Formats: sequence, structure tokens, C-alpha cells
Amino acid sequence: MCGIVGYIGKRSACDILINGLKRLEYRGYDSAGVALNYNAQLTIAKQKGKVAALEAHICNDVSHDAVEKACSGIAHTRWATHGLPTEENAHPHRDNSGRVALVHNGIIENYAALRKQLEKKGSSFSSETDTEVLAHLVGSFYSDDLLGAVSEALKMVEGTYGVAVLANDSPDEMIVARKGSPLVVGMGSDESIIASDVSAIVAHTQQVIYLQDGDVARISATGAEIYTLDQCVVDRNISSVEWEIGAVEKSGYDHFMLKEIFEQPSALENTIRGRLDKVQGTAVLSGLNLTPRDMASIKRLVIVACGTSMHAGMVSKYLFEGLADMPTSVEQAAEFRYCNPLVGADDFVVAVSQSGETADTLAAVRESIQKGALVAGLCNVVGSTIARETGRGIYLHAGPEIGVASTKAFTAQVIVLLMMALKFGRRRRLSREAGLMISREIEQIPAMIEKVLEQNEAIAKIAEKYAQVEHAFFIGRGILYPAALEGALKLKEISYIHAEGYQAAELKHGPIALLQESTPVVALLNDIPGKEKTLGNVAECRARKAPVLGIVTEGDLATAESVDDVIWVPQCSVYAAPIISVVALQLLSYHIARIRGCEIDQPRNLAKSVTVE
Ligand code: AGP
Ligand code: GLU
Repeated sequence: MCGIVGYIGKRSACDILINGLKRLEYRGYDSAGVALNYNAQLTIAKQKGKVAALEAHICNDVSHDAVEKACSGIAHTRWATHGLPTEENAHPHRDNSGRVALVHNGIIENYAALRKQLEKKGSSFSSETDTEVLAHLVGSFYSDDLLGAVSEALKMVEGTYGVAVLANDSPDEMIVARKGSPLVVGMGSDESIIASDVSAIVAHTQQVIYLQDGDVARISATGAEIYTLDQCVVDRNISSVEWEIGAVEKSGYDHFMLKEIFEQPSALENTIRGRLDKVQGTAVLSGLNLTPRDMASIKRLVIVACGTSMHAGMVSKYLFEGLADMPTSVEQAAEFRYCNPLVGADDFVVAVSQSGETADTLAAVRESIQKGALVAGLCNVVGSTIARETGRGIYLHAGPEIGVASTKAFTAQVIVLLMMALKFGRRRRLSREAGLMISREIEQIPAMIEKVLEQNEAIAKIAEKYAQVEHAFFIGRGILYPAALEGALKLKEISYIHAEGYQAAELKHGPIALLQESTPVVALLNDIPGKEKTLGNVAECRARKAPVLGIVTEGDLATAESVDDVIWVPQCSVYAAPIISVVALQLLSYHIARIRGCEIDQPRNLAKSVTVE
């Protein structure tokens, strides 16, 4: 969802900005633009549609001098909130004098009142956006102190922002600020690059500063000076990004989603690395920062999340209750935050979020903190807002996930939650031997996923048979029910086929009315407790002529004979079953979407991080 890139240094800015926007395309957007600061002029180019359209526009219609010689600039991919996705509403926006230009991520909630005030003072607007109001507001304060002008303007703003601002008469500086929309500053050699996330920066440097809410900074080629809006100096550490540019390239795969599906064995090895104590048979999760007393005092676990992350949370309910006798509730974050939740000091609220920026999940965290609960974040993006505001948690270390449809983050989340359940279990009821056995099973999961990935061609062949259906059901029992939900979500997201996940036993309570020859059922039939009951439900489906595709444990020929098609998965424990089954369903959905010619990495209407309510 939207993106910002800024550059200031000795190199030509334009290509760096455009390539940076391309690294942020995965976030989802509808238009794009750049502002180049050269020869005391802010040259602005904007286009509706893709970054490629902007690039063509710059090549054909923008002054070559600015394009080649400007050494500072800002760029933006917009995900419209106020005003249609048009060229006029695309960013950057400037004030009437043309001295100031800015790009913005977020929502200025009091923009209408501010716009009225500015119009009374003579400002005239050319767009419908809330962002343009901020450009005029900064311009109204600006004389010769850009940092001061931006700070004064932002003090009047209600809402969220990540902003980057240029002034035509101050080409050696860029002002950036954040409140609710992430901004990262990359410290290069005689150059600085700012962006909404590090994927647009790592091609140039791995030394970064994660700005925090309330920060405003003057960025120059030699570094960053960071302040509060009241001009008090702020000290922020420089972090080193743990992955390199290759992690945000397709590396020979047709899509980021396919690459990230195949990365799962190595990604999960990174997730697990150093976190299993093979002497005590427990997990080492220092980021949780929980004392034995904390762990003993927790009466209930509350998982707050959205989408795929919520499905990972739903799997974990079976893990925490099965391994640690820990009552666990899983809440859709938006529902949680608005229902005046009954959480308090005895509760441990765990926010599960790949991006660490999902607005509903962040709000659920803030509500939980307000009510005195212990909170933690399970995030993949280092320095993300949820990771910082919870103050404790566990990073997935799965590497950047570029495909909008989440894959390796899901399996990494379940692994981390399984390690948490092991840790809590060993504090409460698990013997050392039991803990050691579960540790060994966790360590084997990456290899099990490798075996599922070996089925890729067979799954692609099965996908041919189901690629043109209009509706599908996914069914599972117990810990496999959330896996069914996740499989259905993957199919919906990238192939646009209507799919629903159900508890296997629930189908006969109504949904079975929809079954017919053209409506397949994907049944999770791993050889774990409950399989026989699910087979009964499968028979009910087939009695209505619905074709059944079974996820079946290798060697389980009897089960294979009870379904129409089979995707084989390795024998595994009940804890690993949802993970390896979902990997098979990821591949199924990927191939169906590929056959249907869908836009797999950036599905229509979707954004990688939903930072608005
Ligand atoms: C997953 O495939 C979807 N893209 C979406 O449901 C996602 O899981 C959800 O928006 C939550 O995102 P988060 O994990 O970054 O909070
Ligand atoms: N609210 C601003 C607009 O609609 C910014 C949207 C975004 O974050 O891309 O232009």
C-alpha cells in the first residue's frame, strides 16, 4: 500500500528513485510520481497507473537536464484514499509558490478544515487529495527554514503521515517525518536514500535508521539529523539490514510468490536457528522478555491478527492448548478493537503481523496496552510499528515477503507459535523428553516442506483439472481447519475463484446444499487423529457428485482410494500437518492462478500491507 523513495547525494537521482519505486510496487498502488530538485526548480512528473508508465512519461516529456543532473529528488506510489487515482491527484504535490514539493503516505484526517483555512488565505488547489493541503501548509510556513516549516505544519495535522519534502532553494537537504506510516533512512557513502521500507534501500546500503513516530529529520548527503516536532534532538541507532538485494529479486522465478513458496525450507531454517534448546527440550525466545513469574501469571493467551496471520493464530490455538494447557482465543483484530475487549493483566496478547504495519492489528495492540495486558509482536519486518510498540516479541527472520499473497510468513508464523507453545508447555506440563521430541519434530519441518515442493509438477498437473471451476470448498478438522481456511484464502486471492474454508463436520449443516459436479472439495486428510471422521464427510461430498481432491499422507493408499485426486504429503506429527498441507495448497493455488493468467504477485484490489482501517 503506497510507497515513498527519496535520494540526496552526488549521483543522478532519477534512476535511483524510479528503481526504488519498482522495489515498492509489491505494496500495491494506483499511480506514481517524482519531483527532481535541480537548478532552483522542482521538476514534477506524475502518471496514473504503473511505474513503467511514469518512466515512459519522464523519458518522453521531462527536461533531460533535470532528469540527468538533479542529485536530489522524491518519489511516490499512491494508494488513493482521498480523490480518484488520477494524474492530478498523484503525488508529489506542491504549494502555489512552487517552492515546496512533498510526497505523503497516510491520511490527514483534518484536511478539510485546513484546506478551508488555507483557501481563505489565498491558496488555490489543483487536486482532491488531503496531501495537497499539507504541501500548501508547509509552503505557508516556509521562508528559509524547511525543517521548521515542516514541523510547524505537522503540528497542525491530525491523522497519519510518512512525508518527504523538498524546497527548490535548498537542494542540499530533504525533510522527512513519520507518524503511523513507516520511513527508513539509508546511510550511504556521500548519499542518503529514504524509503517506506528497506527493500528500496538495500541495493545502495545496509546501514539504516528506522524513524519512529514523532520524528522529523533533515537528510543530507552526509547523514541525518533527527528531532522532535519541537526541535529537540533525537538519537536513533543505525541498524544493519540482515538481508541483501537478492532477497527482493525474483532470482529466476516467474513470480515472487513462487520464489517465496520455494524459499520456505531455508526461510524456516532461519526462523528456527538458535531458538531450540536441545538439552532442556524447550525454546529460547529471548525477545519475549518474559520472566518465569510472567509466564506463571499468564492465565490466557489472546492472538490478534488479520487474514493469513489470523489463520496462523488459529493454528496456534491447538498448539498452546494442546502443549501448554493455555486457554487461547484468536481474535480478528478489527473486531477485537471495537468490541471493548475483556483483556487485562492476566492476559498475554500476541499480535501476529508479517508487515508489522496492519492498522487494525496495531490498534488492537494499543487497546490491549491500554487495558493493562502483557503484549508481544510476531513480525517479519524489523523495526515495524507493531514490533516497536509492543516492546517485546519475535521476528520471523523469514526474509522480505514481496508477493501480496502471504506464503513463507504463514509457515514461519506457525513455527514461531509452535516454539512459543513448546516454551510455555515446558513451563507447565511437558516433560523434558516430550519437549525434546517436539524440538526434533520442529527441526524436521523444513525437510518435510522440501518433500512437498518435490510434488510441484504433480500439483501443477492437478491444477489443470481444477483451473476453470467457479467455486470450491476446503475442509479440515481440528488443527487442519485453519489450514483449510488458509488454502481457500490463497485460491481466492490470486485466482479470483470463490472458495470457502469449513470445518469438515460443518458442511452437512447447510453448505453441502451447494455441492455439485462442478464444485470441487479440497479435503485435508493427513494421517493424524480425526482423519477417519473427515473421510466420512468426504463420502457425503462424493455422494453429491462433488469431486474431492485429498491432501493425503504418503503411503495411505486406503485414503487415496476414497478421493478423486491426491496430493501426497509426508508423514508428520499433528503439529506439522497444517504447515506442510498449506505449502501444498499454496502450490495448488499458484498453478491454478498461473493457468488462469492472473496477476499473481499483485492481485487486483489487494495491498501487501493494509495500513488503513
Ligand atoms: C495474506 O495472503 C493477505 N495478503 C492478507 O490477508 C494478510 O495476511 C493480512 O492483510 C495481514 O497482514 P499482516 O500479516 O502484514 O498483518
Ligand atoms: N491520503 C493520500 C492520498 O490519497 C495518500 C495516500 C497514500 O498513502 O498513498 O493521496
